[in-house]
Amino acid sequence: MIKITFCCTGTEPAPWLAGLRAALPQAQVELWQPGTTPADYAVVWAPPQQFFDEQPKLKGIFNIGAGVDALLRLRLPPQAAVVRLEDAGMAVQMAEYVSQAVIRNFRDLETYAADARAGHWTYYKPRQRNEFSVGVMGLGVLGARVAQALTHFEFPVNGWSRSSKALGGVRHFVGAAQFHDFLANSRVLVNLLPLTPETVNILNRDTLSRLQPGGYVINVARGAHLVDEDLLELIKSCHLSGATLDVFRTEPLRPEHPFWREPKITLTPHTSARTLRADSIAQIADKIAALGRGEKIAGIVDAARGY
Ligand code: NAP
Ligand code: GLV
Repeated sequence: MIKITFCCTGTEPAPWLAGLRAALPQAQVELWQPGTTPADYAVVWAPPQQFFDEQPKLKGIFNIGAGVDALLRLRLPPQAAVVRLEDAGMAVQMAEYVSQAVIRNFRDLETYAADARAGHWTYYKPRQRNEFSVGVMGLGVLGARVAQALTHFEFPVNGWSRSSKALGGVRHFVGAAQFHDFLANSRVLVNLLPLTPETVNILNRDTLSRLQPGGYVINVARGAHLVDEDLLELIKSCHLSGATLDVFRTEPLRPEHPFWREPKITLTPHTSARTLRADSIAQIADKIAALGRGEKIAGIVDAARGY
């Protein structure tokens, strides 16, 4: 019998265990406790190192999120495949979150909301859509969906990734060689890169200064992509018009962090694309069943690449 162990910090386990048992009736699915017997597969989110130290036989580690940066920092059983969530209901959430942030900036909705609170009836000159290019960093499962959603609002959309792609309506820039061109051609910057040694601190004074004047930053990937002080400085100097941030170096964001007090920054608590339980269980169960039949599955992380 296949044994599955569940160890997801900060997640109510009961509905996950019930869902996994219903989707994989032939498997034994248990909540991990220190000292329990080794399993074949693990379903995890932010597990302690002790979990992996006690699970030497794992064949697969299923992360209930898209990003695996925290997981790859642990010592993992070398034979185990690390499998991340692919979409599982997150792509449409990310598309709606980023679209609203772009549109909020494009249509000056923040300013209109402040005016309404003050009882002012004021018009502002509309911006030119053709001068409002949005650059999406990372054109994977989430970035590609976001880029395509933005094309429906007829914004000029640029995309940047490591390998070349063909996405309808998206001007594509590839690799380090075209990164500066990508930035110079973008006014709004959306970050949907994985956090890897190559991408840590990638949103910094040098890169953000290359955005067009009035630039706007939307970080929905990981807090460690962004150098916080550099963003604040570029907002203060008015090179950037503001930012929407969903992710932070330390979460929850500490009360004393200056982001809370910068009116041109809109904050949300890492909620732009939530893990949806039913979709995630269905995806993980399908993959475990496929592995059991000896089939290949998608979503296996390349640890050397970091995503
Ligand atoms: P993905 O499918 O693995 O896509 C990653 C994309 O980034 C790919 O297009 C990849 O290029 C590109 N990339 C990676 N390293 C690069 C580099 N050095 N230079 C240029 N491009 C690079 O990942 P995903 O599922 O879209 O998720 C992206 C990230 O979103 C996750 O890692 C996670 O951190 C974050 N996330 C956040 C939330 C939230 O609620 N805030 C929710 C889910 C995910 P290639 O296509 O050429 O490989
Ligand atoms: C959330 O941040 C995820 O990586 O799924």
